Amino acid sequence: MLTLAISKGRIYEEALPLLAQVGIEPTVDPDKSRKLILPTNREEVQLLIVRATDVPTYVEYGAADLGIAGKDVLVEYDAQGLYEPLDLGIARCRLMTAAMKDSAPVSRGRLRVATKYVKTTHRYFAGRGIQAEIIKLYGSMELAPLVGLAHCIVDLVDTGNTLRANGLEPRDLIMEVSSRLIVNKAAMKMKHREVTSFVEELRQVVSERS
Ligand code: ADP
Ligand code: PRP
Ligand code: MG
Repeated sequence: MLTLAISKGRIYEEALPLLAQVGIEPTVDPDKSRKLILPTNREEVQLLIVRATDVPTYVEYGAADLGIAGKDVLVEYDAQGLYEPLDLGIARCRLMTAAMKDSAPVSRGRLRVATKYVKTTHRYFAGRGIQAEIIKLYGSMELAPLVGLAHCIVDLVDTGNTLRANGLEPRDLIMEVSSRLIVNKAAMKMKHREVTSFVEELRQVVSERS
């Protein structure tokens, strides 16, 4: 059995055509079912539906052999027991700092930054010699500067619509983000043939797309 952890929403939607091209099609639609283990047309392959930030956890502990997760999540999670053999090129966006449009840089006091990417943000500012105060949020980061909770945010930007709609503007690029295939290290050994053939088939599909 090969088990792949994946999150519902944009990663699932964008991964579906890639999986179909390697002959894997879920037989249950996660938006219509409450099932969290999705069988596929191939009885030796199943999908686990988990939160995007939980994908590396399932794979690191071997509860899933493989997973699909955003680079933003992988950098923040900082996993040790994982291989990351393939950039799938899906769910592309950028991790950026953003602040109120035309606002001046903070000149007095400590810079307050709201984000769900606490470790990545700490590392980013520390790397530039700035000891920022980081305020952990779980979503709607774009609201924080509007109501004075923080001077700026660190969040994902794609079209920039969410920033614009809230009077914010993108500032500095922290990293380019896309989704990666990750593999449990033990599964890579124990299920070597199945895992490597899956990875190489996907690699072929991805390279044909670009
Ligand atoms: P969550 O509930 O964690 O926000 P999402 O499905 O929105 O789940 O995000 C999952 C992953 O998709 C993120 O970790 C990131 O890699 C990518 N992503 C998030 N937002 C966007 C976006 N607006 N455009 C492209 N990719 C995105
Ligand atoms: C993501 C991200 C930004 C937005 C950026 O939110 O957290 O808020 O997309 O995309 P844009 O630049 O195209 O506006 P998402 O749509 O995933 O909402 P949620 O995570 O808050 O549910
Ligand atoms: Mg989201």
